[in-house]
Amino acid sequence: MSQIKSFSISKPARYQNAALEYYLGLTNSPYLHYGYWEPLPTSLDELTPAQLRIAQQAYADRLLAFIPPEVKTILDVGCGIGGNAAQLLAHGFTVEGLAPDPFQQEQFLHRTQGNALFHLTRFEDFKGTAAYDLILFSESSQYIPSTEIAQGSKRSLRSGGYLLIADMFRKNADYQQGIFSNCLVVSELEAALTQQGFQLVKVEDISTHVAPTIDICVYYFQTFGLTTLKYIAQLVAIAVPLLHKIGRRLFNRWLKKPIDEAMQAHAVFDQHLCYQIQLWHLPAETEVK
Ligand SMILES: C[S@@+](CC[C@H](N)C(=O)[O-])C[C@H]1O[C@@H](n2cnc3c(N)ncnc32)[C@H](O)[C@@H]1O
Repeated sequence: MSQIKSFSISKPARYQNAALEYYLGLTNSPYLHYGYWEPLPTSLDELTPAQLRIAQQAYADRLLAFIPPEVKTILDVGCGIGGNAAQLLAHGFTVEGLAPDPFQQEQFLHRTQGNALFHLTRFEDFKGTAAYDLILFSESSQYIPSTEIAQGSKRSLRSGGYLLIADMFRKNADYQQGIFSNCLVVSELEAALTQQGFQLVKVEDISTHVAPTIDICVYYFQTFGLTTLKYIAQLVAIAVPLLHKIGRRLFNRWLKKPIDEAMQAHAVFDQHLCYQIQLWHLPAETEVK
């Protein structure tokens, strides 16, 4: 029997989901994350979907390198369409995926070929306890409040387990409106995790290595997306002038601002955001001094 669940999703998160679908169409890859560009591109010509797929694989490899050797079982929270999970399975880990999205469930199960369980739920509602050696949030922390990440991870990890978070974060809490405003404030996440007894093992700032992905998205949107939109608008203006007039009003009222902001995404990112990979450890009771 098919399982139908409905989840309430905030407006910024819905904007992010729309961006994810656009991104998926652009990359045609098993990953929904930004990737890790190394070497950094030196011209627009190097911003191609093929290069982006290479960057995404490099990011997945980088996450792997953060996983401590004693880890065997992993819960992949916000697992997307299963790219990271398939890679983890290939490296011998036992993996379970979790996401509140039936489309991703289907893709995840297909990609992991029945070798990984999937939980169709929000992390906030997940009831798993003391089960995993490591919980991975690969670009999914931005959808979940810091306190829920900290408390839920403590509950679901085995004693002495690890938390691996890779995501875009707000550098300060003052940035509250706009395309990236759903990202967690880095200091608030740290405070929430510390309060639950997590200790930071390792952190790496990879902002400059993810930024080219913002550039490629803007570049493609500008060159193909907006150009196509303008062409269609011209056709409508010729064929049905009244519809064009109404469409133009609606565009100016509802779409112009988010599109203008999307065009400025790199500058917004530089000013207000950073991208970090963080490894946290939850010491076993006996390890706590
Ligand atoms: C940017 S995608 C990242 C996908 C994947 N981890 C990757 O690295 O390719 C964000 C993921 O977070 C999931 N997500 C959104 N809200 C969530 C929530 N409340 N609990 C768990 N996952 C959530 C989305 O469905 C999606 O799978």
